[in-house]
Amino acid sequence: MAMLATRRPDAEQHDPAGRTLNLTLQVWRQKNATSPGKMVTYAATGISADMSFLEMLDVVNEGLIARDEEPIAFDNDCREGICGTCGFMINGVAHGPERGTTVCQLHMRHFKDGETITIEPWRARAFPVLKDLVVDRGAFDRIIQAGGYITAPTGGAQDANAILVPKADADVAFDSAACIGCGACVAMCPNASAMLFTAAKISHLGHLPQGQPERDDRVLRMVARMDVEGFGACTNIGECAAVCPKEIPMDVISFMNRDLLRATRRKDREAKASNE
Ligand code: SF4
Ligand code: FES
Repeated sequence: MAMLATRRPDAEQHDPAGRTLNLTLQVWRQKNATSPGKMVTYAATGISADMSFLEMLDVVNEGLIARDEEPIAFDNDCREGICGTCGFMINGVAHGPERGTTVCQLHMRHFKDGETITIEPWRARAFPVLKDLVVDRGAFDRIIQAGGYITAPTGGAQDANAILVPKADADVAFDSAACIGCGACVAMCPNASAMLFTAAKISHLGHLPQGQPERDDRVLRMVARMDVEGFGACTNIGECAAVCPKEIPMDVISFMNRDLLRATRRKDREAKASNE
């Protein structure tokens, strides 16, 4: 199973040559959800190779604001690779060229001076573009609402030592819980499938004792919600795992499919028994 990859070993390194980059950006600009969008070209000059990608966009936006032009809209919050808010396509790759890295943790030293960089929002029917690089990822929230939780009685918290969790299960649950809900897996999948995201949540709760009572209903409801939201099916291409900034492995999809099969059979048996 994947290990947590919140920060890559090179995340704090400086560009050894102290380079400054002059770049050409081709950026998707779209006024709002109903307007047509188009690619617009901008110069990004004097960019320190030590800047993050979002800091580079900040510099471009400062120039746009100084010229009384609309800044490029993009989502961001923590800028530490942990919140899942940021994300767009860089040269056709979700979160850009570095493995296991969110766009907020991507540094400009990975680009060449004089390079042309294309920047586009996630493209998926279930993630409509709201403005420029910002998409509506509410579909993920609704998948979680459908079953990505546990029901626990209120009152004093139970002593943690009273619920034993085998180390191997705790490790898998922890790795699965590393999913930050960024949506890169959907954006990179040719089917715009949300299987890796949903399966990470199913695997997280399904490997813990607290997740067992609702395990069958959870998988049935969350998978049904994926379909309602318009995400595509998984055809085992693997682009999702390749661009996942938390390196969630495709094993979680196998885990979810096994849970789905078991839950579906149980439901069928119960329906049959109630008809007899
Ligand atoms: S599985 Fe990975 S790529 Fe998909 S939402 Fe979670 S962290 Fe992002
Ligand atoms: S801004 Fe939080 S993960 Fe990028």
